[in-house]
Amino acid sequence: MGYNLYMRPGAGKFIVFEGIDGSGKTTISKLFFKYLKNKNINTSWFREPSDSKWGKKIRELADEMDSIPIDEEFKYFLKDRKWDVENNLRPSLKNGDIVILDRYYFSSACYQGARGMDVEMIISENRKFSPEPDLLFLIDVDIPTAMNRIRNSRDVEAKLFEKESFLLKVRKNYLDLKYDFIKVIDGKESIDNVLGSVIEEFEQFFLP
Ligand code: TMP
Repeated sequence: MGYNLYMRPGAGKFIVFEGIDGSGKTTISKLFFKYLKNKNINTSWFREPSDSKWGKKIRELADEMDSIPIDEEFKYFLKDRKWDVENNLRPSLKNGDIVILDRYYFSSACYQGARGMDVEMIISENRKFSPEPDLLFLIDVDIPTAMNRIRNSRDVEAKLFEKESFLLKVRKNYLDLKYDFIKVIDGKESIDNVLGSVIEEFEQFFLP
């Protein structure tokens, strides 16, 4: 995929974290953010769904997502992302920050894709307004590991079986993505090791 300068007006760097539920990507992205802050690097951390009115609606509806038609669900994520790009991502990139984002349109591609939408269509709709990442860390874990972490950390007794087969599809969609900026990181390792791999890749990519 070509690098589109028009899409990247600022001088900042854009780093996305993706992975299935239970992959640990939020923990790792926050630790990476702290690591950069400690080095006095201008850094911002955001997540999607964002804090827009659409993002809030998505979080409110989280347990009922199955009852919403898929094209409606997709539109909520798209509207939320437009807001995030305009209000958070582009301004911070323009400011020269290293922008860290926990989930991006690859989540739409893989999750809404797993609910039956066309993955390529999802990506092309999003690319109309979304800047491309410089680097995307796909924190990958197998399904039993993810399910164990979900069972231990959240109160989600119901629907676990459904969740397991759904996440299997989501993970496959993630591993099928083919972009040069994607680095797959083994998320089964200890937090320290996963963070270490992220930092190593980051330094190889950005430091001279
Ligand atoms: P989180 O657990 O990382 O906060 O993500 C919330 C849920 O939203 C997670 O199950 C993935 C889902 N999601 C989508 O289905 N599509 C999207 O575009 C995004 C950003 C999240």
